[in-house]
Amino acid sequence: MSQDRGQFSSRLGFILAAAGSAVGLGNLVAFPVMASKNGGAAFLIIYLFFIAFICYPVMIAEISMGRKTQRNPVGAFSALSDGDRKWRLVGMLGILTPFMIAVFYTVITVWLVVYLKEIATGGLETLADEATFGTLVAEPSLFGYLILLLGIVFTILLGGVKGGIERLARVLMPTLAVMLILLTLFVLTLDGAVEGIKYYLVPDFSKVSLTVVNGALSQAFFSLSLGMGILITYGSYFGREDNIPQSTRMVAIADTSIAFFAGLLILPAIFAFDPNTNTDDLSTSSVGLIFSFLPKIFLSMQMAVGYTGASIVALVFFTLVFFAALTSLVSIVEIPISCWIDELKMSRKKAVLLQAGLLAVFAIPATMSLGMSDFFTNFTSYGGVTKSFFDLVSDVFYETILPLVGFTVCIFASYRWKTSGLSEEISKGDPAYEGSLLQKYINFSLGTVIPAVLLVVFLSTVYQIYL
Ligand code: PHE
Repeated sequence: MSQDRGQFSSRLGFILAAAGSAVGLGNLVAFPVMASKNGGAAFLIIYLFFIAFICYPVMIAEISMGRKTQRNPVGAFSALSDGDRKWRLVGMLGILTPFMIAVFYTVITVWLVVYLKEIATGGLETLADEATFGTLVAEPSLFGYLILLLGIVFTILLGGVKGGIERLARVLMPTLAVMLILLTLFVLTLDGAVEGIKYYLVPDFSKVSLTVVNGALSQAFFSLSLGMGILITYGSYFGREDNIPQSTRMVAIADTSIAFFAGLLILPAIFAFDPNTNTDDLSTSSVGLIFSFLPKIFLSMQMAVGYTGASIVALVFFTLVFFAALTSLVSIVEIPISCWIDELKMSRKKAVLLQAGLLAVFAIPATMSLGMSDFFTNFTSYGGVTKSFFDLVSDVFYETILPLVGFTVCIFASYRWKTSGLSEEISKGDPAYEGSLLQKYINFSLGTVIPAVLLVVFLSTVYQIYL
C-alpha cells in the first residue's frame, strides 16, 4: 500500500472533515428555500425521515467499504468483488462523478471569491443590481480568480489527509458554526424577522406533493455528500478501531443542524428587509438566490446599519458560504487524487499535480459557459432547452448520477460484499452492533427498500430533465 495514503488523526478529525464536505451550498441556501417553499415544518419532517432511514444506512455502507479496503472507490469496489470487471466499472463511475462535480463546483466557488472581493472593496451596491451577475460571470478576469482558487485548493491537498484536509476542517468548521450562530442571532433581533420564522417553520401539509418528497430525498442525499465516492474515500482514512455508526450519526446531525440554522438566518433576513417579498421569487436554485437575490437583501440593511455595516454583514455571510464551499470542494477533488495514488501508485505530490491539470482543463470551458464563449454557452440542447457546458455537467453528474451511484452502493454492499461482510466491518469499532436493531434495519433495508427508492428518484430525475 502506498505510503502516501494518509489517515485522519482521530475520530473527531474524521467527523470534522466529513462534516466539512457535507456542509456546503446545499445547506446554506438550497435547504432553507426548499423547506420554506414546500410546507415549512412539514418538509422538515420528511427530510429528517429520509436522513435517518435512507441516507444514514447508505452513509454507513460507504464508509465501511472504504475502511475495509483502505481504498478509493475504484479500488474498494474492485477489492471487495475480487477484481470483478463489472464492479470495477461501477467504481469508475464513483470517480468520474466527483471529478465532474468538482468542475462546476469550482466555477461557483470562483464566483464567491469575486463577490468577496467586490464586497470588501465597497461594491455591494453593484452586486445588488440585477444585471451585475450576468456581466460578472462573462468577464475574462474570472480566470485570474480561477488560478487563485485552484492554487488554494491544491496547496491544501498537497498537505495530505491530516496536514491538509483535516487541518482545514479543524479551523474552518468551528469558525463557520460560530459565524452562523452570531449572524443568525443578529438577524433574529430585527423587526419583521418573526414573519420569516413563521414562513419557514409553520407546517403546511397541503404543499407536500410527490415532487416535493422526491426533492427532499435528493436534497438529503446531496447534502450528506452521498453517491460521490467521498465517504468511501474518507472511510479509508478512518481509524480501524473507531465506531462507524456513532461517528456517522455525528456527521449527519452536524450537517442537518447547519441546514436548519441557515434557514433561521436567511428567511428572517429576507422578510425583515423586504416584508413584501413575493415568495414565488425565492428560486430554489442556490445559484440564483446567493448571487442575485441575497446582495439586494444585504444592501437593504443599510437603512438600519449604514452602507459599511451592511457591507460587513454581507462580507461575513459570503465568507461563511465560501468556507463551506471550500471544504466541500477540497473533499471532492481528493477523490480522484486518492484514486491516482492507490491505482496508479503515484506519490501524493504527483497525483495532486495531475489532478490540478485535469481539473483546469475542464474548469476552463465551464467558466466560459456563461456568456464568455458562444460555443460553450450554447453547447447542446435536450428536454427542449439549450444547455451550456456548465449546465450539462451539472445536470448529468450532480442531478442525475448521484442516486444511481447510491443505488449501486446498496446493491453491492447487500449482494456482492454481503451484509455479513458489512456487519463484520462495522462491529470492529462497535461491538454492540451485532444483534442490534440498527443491524437488523440495515440488513433488511439496504438490499430492498433503499435501492428501490433511489431507483425511483433516479428515473424520475431522468424523466424530468431529459424527456
Ligand atoms: N454536501 C455538499 C452541499 O451540501 C455538496 C457537495 C459536497 C458538493 C462536496 C460538492 C462537493 O453543498
